Amino acid sequence: MVTKVKTRYRQHFHIIPQQGWMNDPNGLCFFKGYYHVFFQYHPDSAEWGPMHWGHVRSVDLVHWERCPIALKPDSAFDDGGCFSGSAVVKDDRLYLMYTGNHYVSGTDHQVIWQDQNIAYSDDGLHFIKYSHNPVIKTPPSDNAADFRDPKLWWDGKQWSVVIGSKSRLGLGRALQYQSDDLLHWTYQGVLDAATASATEGNVWECPNLVELSGRKVLLFSPQGIATDGYRYRNIYQTGYFTSINGNRQLIELDAGHDFYAAQTFIDEHGRHILFAWMDMWEAPLHEQVDGWAGTLTLPRQLDWVDGRLTMTPLPELKALRSSCIVTRRIIGATHLQDLPRALEVVLTSQLATNGTATLMLGDDQSAALIKVIFDRRQQAVTLLKMGARDARRTTLKMRNDQLKLHLYCDYSSCELFINDGAVTFSERIYPQGLLKLTWTPAVSQETELTAYALASAIEGKEQSE
Ligand code: FRU
Repeated sequence: MVTKVKTRYRQHFHIIPQQGWMNDPNGLCFFKGYYHVFFQYHPDSAEWGPMHWGHVRSVDLVHWERCPIALKPDSAFDDGGCFSGSAVVKDDRLYLMYTGNHYVSGTDHQVIWQDQNIAYSDDGLHFIKYSHNPVIKTPPSDNAADFRDPKLWWDGKQWSVVIGSKSRLGLGRALQYQSDDLLHWTYQGVLDAATASATEGNVWECPNLVELSGRKVLLFSPQGIATDGYRYRNIYQTGYFTSINGNRQLIELDAGHDFYAAQTFIDEHGRHILFAWMDMWEAPLHEQVDGWAGTLTLPRQLDWVDGRLTMTPLPELKALRSSCIVTRRIIGATHLQDLPRALEVVLTSQLATNGTATLMLGDDQSAALIKVIFDRRQQAVTLLKMGARDARRTTLKMRNDQLKLHLYCDYSSCELFINDGAVTFSERIYPQGLLKLTWTPAVSQETELTAYALASAIEGKEQSE
């Protein structure tokens, strides 16, 4: 068991593990006065390993309290790990559905089978695994071994679940089941499937169906898609299909290097709130040598606007502001230094039809850990990250001259929301010392900029190095 973590990259207001490894957010829900976030967790080392469900809860979606580990892989029906899943509330009881992972032979992690289990809790802290697990024993006969990441919802009449899978033909897909009681399930068929593995994936992980503005959108995390110019440059993606000239195309939900396995839930105000793992499989995690690994994104509101999904930081996050460092109106370029590493910047500027502008975020040692180039003529925004093999670029369509940026930096991440979340970039960064920010519009246009220092929001005193 790791007992000490180094603090230099510990996030101050994002969900991170106390020690050890984390990946996907799981079981997002609101139950008996608390928002709950569970996550894929390996407490014993900063490497992926036998999966547990870590757990934090919050009364405001801003400040998080650590809870005991919710699920451990200690039963015959989850002996190879408690993989990803989701939560619903029924009759005052919190139900989790998660994947039981199994290795055919203890030493060979390539040969697996997977089934779906239920655990429940009346206090939201202590979980009992259902004694007749698994509740969904086997996938349909045309399925490969991959059969995981159940996402539950109530459709108004019945319980539904969508499960990520791979067909025997090597195509990613999402399977749907229904139930009256969460314990007995009937297979309903394929909700959607890849038509070709190179363009749509050979396995779909973490499917999540949302209905926004009357439109059903399936979010999923496909693997095996080939890079296509600036598209699909991460090893794996998280996105949804849209129709372009009659052809469907996978749209990546976030344009950054570090975003995967997003999950949503609907809060008591009817908002769709999303968390994702703000890392990427096989990307270097500099905090691993410090005894921990992985972080979630901030909670974001998911909306359907102008024919696409948008993500905006929750307004509740304003509660993190501990002081306003600067607020100014500037003509032309500006440079700020000695900025705290837990930082929020709100910037509004004009970007003429053929205008360009550059935002750089640096530290004590380098001017640009991150460089973002806005190019209105090309309708593109490009992000370069120090140490990353290649840039990320996506389309930026603007209806008027106003460019709005909202930036959240924590001790080892940076999230950039552009024009009310039409484009977002999620990035792990590893600053040394304080931050600096440079804003350079191509012409002397007016910019309004406000920067805030942010407070810590994760319970528990960090142990010193
Ligand atoms: C996604 C994923 C899931 C799986 C979990 C295992 O990142 O691969 O498909 O349930 O991680 O930790």
